[in-house]
Amino acid sequence: MNLEQATLAECFEAVVTQRRSVRGFKKQVVGQALIQHVFSIAGRAPSNCNTQPWAVHVVSGGKLERLRDILPVNTMRGMTTLDYPYEPKYHGIYQERQFDAANQMYGAVGLERKDKEQRMEVFMRNYRFFGAPHVAFLFLPEHFGLREAADIGMYAQTLMLALTAHGLASCPQTSLGFHADAVREVLEVDASYKLLFGISFGYEDIDDPINNTRMGRAELSETTVFHDQ
Ligand SMILES: Cc1cc2nc3c(=O)[nH]c(=O)nc-3n(C[C@H](O)[C@H](O)[C@H](O)COP(=O)(O)O)c2cc1C
Repeated sequence: MNLEQATLAECFEAVVTQRRSVRGFKKQVVGQALIQHVFSIAGRAPSNCNTQPWAVHVVSGGKLERLRDILPVNTMRGMTTLDYPYEPKYHGIYQERQFDAANQMYGAVGLERKDKEQRMEVFMRNYRFFGAPHVAFLFLPEHFGLREAADIGMYAQTLMLALTAHGLASCPQTSLGFHADAVREVLEVDASYKLLFGISFGYEDIDDPINNTRMGRAELSETTVFHDQ
């Protein structure tokens, strides 16, 4: 593809701004050829020393249905296993942003902060992959650390942008990282691969009100300092 610079910039900005976390999917499966294509594009992500430390399991069909049955039950029973520690308490501005995001997401389905039980029910949709027909689980070999985890982040964003560019929707989910052992067992993944998170993907269900969520972003000056001299 040989696009004019201006067209390239326009396409890029359109893809970046159109990507958002979608939490309601159609059952319709994505064709294998398109899935293979999108994942091969994602592999163009940069990584430390080109190590490409991502170990990716793309799950559809019977194994995904097994996980869709197991994960909600395990969550309710408190049977969770995390490979990487999770600190749910954010502070200061980060907590404000977290609360804003939660209020927006639950607000899209008519729930307020006091509606704890109903919010929990909506949260539990994470473990049914929001109805998506496909999930990518992203693992990191155990001897890698924070630096390589950043590579997985780059891979994940490249993947989600590629999905968007091809008319597909996605949601990255740390919540899936709470079921590392169950996911490894169903997918027969060796214990030396550690689960960071998963990404549900497929076609957006535009009739699901939760998908009306549109998260804002902080002003540039809040997050970025430019040193000019
Ligand atoms: C690594 C990562 C993990 C996330 N985990 C979850 C999750 O478990 N469940 C969920 O509903 N959203 C999850 N999100 C989505 C964020 O809430 C979302 O990216 C953020 O609110 C910005 O909204 P946007 O993606 O629609 O732009 C996650 C995002 C990232 C990058």
